[in-house]
Amino acid sequence: MKTTIKILGAGCAALALVAGGAFAGPDDDVLSIDGEVIATKVKAKEGNPIGDTLISGWHYRNDETQALQMDDFDNPAFVYVQLGEELWNTAEGESGQSCADCHGDATESMKGLRARMPTWSEVGQKPWGLEQWINWSRIEHQKASELKWDSQEMLALNAYISVQSRGMPVEVDISGPLEAWWKKGEELYYTRTGQLDFACASCHEDYNGMYLRSDHLSQGHTNGFPLYRLKWQGLGSLHRRLTGCVQDTRAEPYPVASDELTAIELYVAWRGQGLSVEAPAVRQ
Ligand code: HEC
Ligand code: HEC
Repeated sequence: MKTTIKILGAGCAALALVAGGAFAGPDDDVLSIDGEVIATKVKAKEGNPIGDTLISGWHYRNDETQALQMDDFDNPAFVYVQLGEELWNTAEGESGQSCADCHGDATESMKGLRARMPTWSEVGQKPWGLEQWINWSRIEHQKASELKWDSQEMLALNAYISVQSRGMPVEVDISGPLEAWWKKGEELYYTRTGQLDFACASCHEDYNGMYLRSDHLSQGHTNGFPLYRLKWQGLGSLHRRLTGCVQDTRAEPYPVASDELTAIELYVAWRGQGLSVEAPAVRQ
């Protein structure tokens, strides 16, 4: 039996948060992909507002969705990984060079990069996530066109580069000029927006483990992105997901690639430090 503990809004579009009775809370399954166990529950570093244990969003999904991520042949995101590998090796732009011509074998040169994202860019004078780095290198070095963040090509390149860090712990730098961005991200994380007057923390801290409609609220980690969402029937960027989260509060979302979402990306990656990179994950 599910018990409705809070109902917000009015009419059929009301947001109902329900405690999931016997199904509340994350499960104890083990995420093993081709025999490799991925760390999905880890001890939080001191000072992490989440508390003792960081739990991957994978634990909040149902068995069928979880299973899709346990085998690369079943994982629908791997179509993109394959496309990403092809693009990596394809010459493009005025340089006439492929990513591989300059960066070599991605399994070597790109290993660990996703785990550290976002990182400081001297050129941009701001933190850049993987999409920004890919676009910058495409324009600056490859002399090719900019890619939209949720275009097939960007998602494919992002997934291909990200999977090279799968299983590695998320570890972000928040020192030097990044500190101000981390602070901004923290501030935004606790800022209430929209008609519902909800902050990120309302859903992912206060109501963690409860159900929002049919969706089981996780701690809201970023280690699975870019990820395949069954609802999207495709792969999507972290910023796309965050746009949806903010829209759920019935607020005007920050645009994809905006400074606000980049600051949030840095802050939320920091909250998830120690969890393994799962990209490309599968979610509901
Ligand atoms: C003409 C050579 C060249 C081509 C082609 C090229 N890059 Fe780069 N790329 C560079 C250089 C030079 C840098 C900056 C040096 C560095 O930081 O490693 C860089 C940096 C990057 C970074 C940031 C790495 C880091 O450590 O932060 C990423 C990601 C990247 N490139 C991805 C790509 C992708 C994806 C492609 C193909 C779409 C591509 N690059 C094509 C030369 C190239
Ligand atoms: C109205 C409730 C609500 C608010 C507010 C909200 N989210 Fe979410 N968020 C969800 C739901 C529902 C999901 C999908 C289930 C889950 O993983 O929690 C989700 C998923 C996520 C995920 C993906 C987790 C995964 O493992 O796939 C991230 C990251 C995330 N949210 C971050 C944020 C951030 C950052 C904010 C503030 C900008 C925010 N959310 C605001 C409801 C919310």
